[in-house]
Amino acid sequence: MNSIKIAPSILSADFGRIGEVVKETERAGADYIHVDVMDGEFVPNLTIGPFVVKAIRANTSLPLDVHLMIVKPDRLIPEFIEAGADKITVHREAVDELLPVINLIKGLGAKAGVSINPATNEENLKYLLDYCDLILVMLVNPGFGGQKTLESQVKKLHMIKELLTREKKTNILLEVDGGVNNKNFSTLVNAGADILVAGSAIFNSGKKMYSKNIKKLRNSWKRSDIKKNF
Ligand code: DX5
Ligand code: ZN
Repeated sequence: MNSIKIAPSILSADFGRIGEVVKETERAGADYIHVDVMDGEFVPNLTIGPFVVKAIRANTSLPLDVHLMIVKPDRLIPEFIEAGADKITVHREAVDELLPVINLIKGLGAKAGVSINPATNEENLKYLLDYCDLILVMLVNPGFGGQKTLESQVKKLHMIKELLTREKKTNILLEVDGGVNNKNFSTLVNAGADILVAGSAIFNSGKKMYSKNIKKLRNSWKRSDIKKNF
């Protein structure tokens, strides 16, 4: 089994001091930096591009987990990888033909992830299992931090985990994103999550708290008394 990883989403961080935030997040014990890229089209919100990813890269040696919530991701993938992205995740709903996009990412030396929105059936992932390195299960509708996890997605996570086991694809990492906190963390790990993205649970309580918040998430997995509280 893979060890459980925490990927703080800097969407909820202070962009005015993003370099410092990234350094502090690394010192606080994060495993990845999760970067949410939004284009105002695939999702209603607009965030950052490759220039900012380059600035983040200059401030950390942690792997950059870049989540593209954009249409036509192939236009920008080479720039994001050049800027320092280690993993690039694209949305099933954003492209008709995902295979060439996955091949583009892998051909440029990055790991390729595929994400599905809450309304997208997990069957859509089946034909991609031979190609992708990671599956990102959205626990909220993408676009904004600070939303509540949709409980229906936990069942889906279970089903995807079973699918990976059945198809002998346990090398594919399972990542979850949206509303992760210390109440639902253990439920999500028990359902199969290897990487847990967390934005507001880490960044919404002041810069001195990052390390404490990351520790709280990790510890909540070990605490059986809060396992049942979603
Ligand atoms: C939502 C983003 C998430 C989000 C996570 O579209 O993909 O990464 O910012 O933030 P929280 O943990 O606050 O839901
Ligand atoms: Zn994300």
